[in-house]
Amino acid sequence: MNAKTRVKAQFERQAKQYTVSAVHAGGESLDRLVDLAELRPEDVTLDVATGTGFTACAVAPFVRRVVASDLAPAMLNETRALAARRGLTNVLAQHADAEALPFRDRVFDLVTCRTAPHHFLDPMAFFRETHRVLKPGGRLVVSDTCSPDDDAGDAWMNRLEVLRDATHIRNYRPGEWRRMADQAGLVWETGEVGLRQSMRFQEWVARSGTPPEVIEDVRRMLTKASPALRETFQIEEREDDIHFAWPYVVFRARKIGGQWSVIGGR
Ligand SMILES: C[S@@+](CC[C@H](N)C(=O)[O-])C[C@H]1O[C@@H](n2cnc3c(N)ncnc32)[C@H](O)[C@@H]1O
Repeated sequence: MNAKTRVKAQFERQAKQYTVSAVHAGGESLDRLVDLAELRPEDVTLDVATGTGFTACAVAPFVRRVVASDLAPAMLNETRALAARRGLTNVLAQHADAEALPFRDRVFDLVTCRTAPHHFLDPMAFFRETHRVLKPGGRLVVSDTCSPDDDAGDAWMNRLEVLRDATHIRNYRPGEWRRMADQAGLVWETGEVGLRQSMRFQEWVARSGTPPEVIEDVRRMLTKASPALRETFQIEEREDDIHFAWPYVVFRARKIGGQWSVIGGR
């Protein structure tokens, strides 16, 4: 089984857990993304790696159409169910790999992607594909976890996430996000750092289906974290659970440039 098939198979199993995940259902990371997207009624939107459709369904009431795309068919079924429950008729769930989008060039006004690029095997391919499918002037808005700038914090967070959930590839630093957008030819417009997503250990490992023997290693990494890591990630052992907070970024980048228009004619 290749890496992509493995990621897909694991997300097929996780779809039901994501549907009931409070972290994904809403909160500041979704509100900030919607704000930065500057939604317009005429927008034709693509939500990449839609999961169970929370972002697609948050955007849908304010735009013309949302194509909610994902690698895992079980996620797309959950998206269809969520759209139906909310009475949204402009959400179209479609299978798509973020790294090889099955769409023509220059067809979307807006591409959104939330809490997902850290799962992509080749995030640059996602950025390049986004640039290709956006219309000139179109925008990309991403909200995703990020690692801190210091090397120790970056290495620890990424080691912990890969241990808990093998579908994690990397949480990128804010500067890495910006570089990837630049390299794909997207113009960075605005980015927000310093945001924190509150997490609870029990729900976090249940959602990813972490095996019991690994859960103990993950727990140990949190409880034995150095004072510096505890401060960076706000790790607290409380009576009910271990609480901590992941940093995340939200940013908007735009495809600039136009095309020649043929005026007049024979
Ligand atoms: C955490 S969920 C996404 C959450 C969702 N965007 C939201 O706002 O609630 C991550 C999703 O990424 C999808 N995914 C991972 N790699 C992918 C790829 N290469 N192409 C498309 N989807 C992918 C998984 O199937 C999964 O549904």
